[in-house]
Amino acid sequence: MIFDFKDIKEEVKKDLKEISNSRELKQFSDKYLGNKGKVANIFKRIKDTSQDKRKKIGEEANLLKNDIVKIISMETRKMEAKKKKEAIKKERIDITRPGKKLEQGHLSPLTLVQREVEEIFQSMGFSIEEGPELEKEWYNFDALNIPKNHPARDLWDTFWVKTGKDSKEHPLLRTHTSPVQARYMEKHHPPFKIIVPGKCFRHESTDASHEIQFYQVEGLIVDKNISVSNFSAIIEEFLKRFFKSKDIEIRLKPDYFPFTEPSFEVSVRRGKGEWVELMGAGMVHPNVFKAVGYVQPPSKSGWQGFAFGVGLDRLAMVKYKINDIRLFNSGDLRFLNQF
Ligand code: DAH
Repeated sequence: MIFDFKDIKEEVKKDLKEISNSRELKQFSDKYLGNKGKVANIFKRIKDTSQDKRKKIGEEANLLKNDIVKIISMETRKMEAKKKKEAIKKERIDITRPGKKLEQGHLSPLTLVQREVEEIFQSMGFSIEEGPELEKEWYNFDALNIPKNHPARDLWDTFWVKTGKDSKEHPLLRTHTSPVQARYMEKHHPPFKIIVPGKCFRHESTDASHEIQFYQVEGLIVDKNISVSNFSAIIEEFLKRFFKSKDIEIRLKPDYFPFTEPSFEVSVRRGKGEWVELMGAGMVHPNVFKAVGYVQPPSKSGWQGFAFGVGLDRLAMVKYKINDIRLFNSGDLRFLNQF
């Protein structure tokens, strides 16, 4: 019986050269290792050989089989590597191609102005404080020297919030940021310099200069020997930086606020322009110091202070020449996209 190992090996070598894809490799595998393949055929015929040859032929057949298995697995690996290389070539990412632009949001003019105001005051040594928008009557009025039945309470149309039938005290949406003066002083001993930016609410009919919701920045300095000239210098410096102009003048006119004495209305003029009323201010009233528990009389403790309150919307309107306060909350993109 003839076992044509040599011929088969030659044939394997020849076939191998022809293989160029995985289909052909499969055919190759079937031809030699399949159930009816050439190697199987050898094994089938072994039993018909003489006893003494069987072992040797068996060994040789196994070697042949292992060689072919190795060849196939090597070819498979080579083919996969080639495929991968081609895929990478085809799927290359073009990093120079322009991407899809994402629509980007931006800050509201009020936020921009608030941040700018904070930055300027911080650079002058002020710290930034906050208080609640839902406020107690005591802080919004009483502690600020505005007792019940005082006509000054009528200055502000207040949103009262009902908290239940039995509750004697109703909170309110704060009508100004001044209550944070009292909250802060209750917990801190002078000297200090703070500003308090925040949202305020008043129940009034809206027009180009009135909104039911607006922003204020409160300022408070308490120290020894604090005077109106300190106040003027600080405010003037603030306005020069805020409007980025040296040509800024301020003017103080007597005004009335229950929590300051004397009180002023502060106006500003840029260049030779119109005077614009910008804020209320004054020396902290002794009754406010009393309400927060500072040593009495103030002449004994030596603490003095001044306070001011400026409309943030107002500042933004003057800076950007906006003629209607209602635009800020209108959601009108033609307006908002300009910032
Ligand atoms: N709270 C006042 C208002 O809303 C503004 C104000 C005036 C604040 C005088 C002050 C001040 O701190 O001293 O109209």
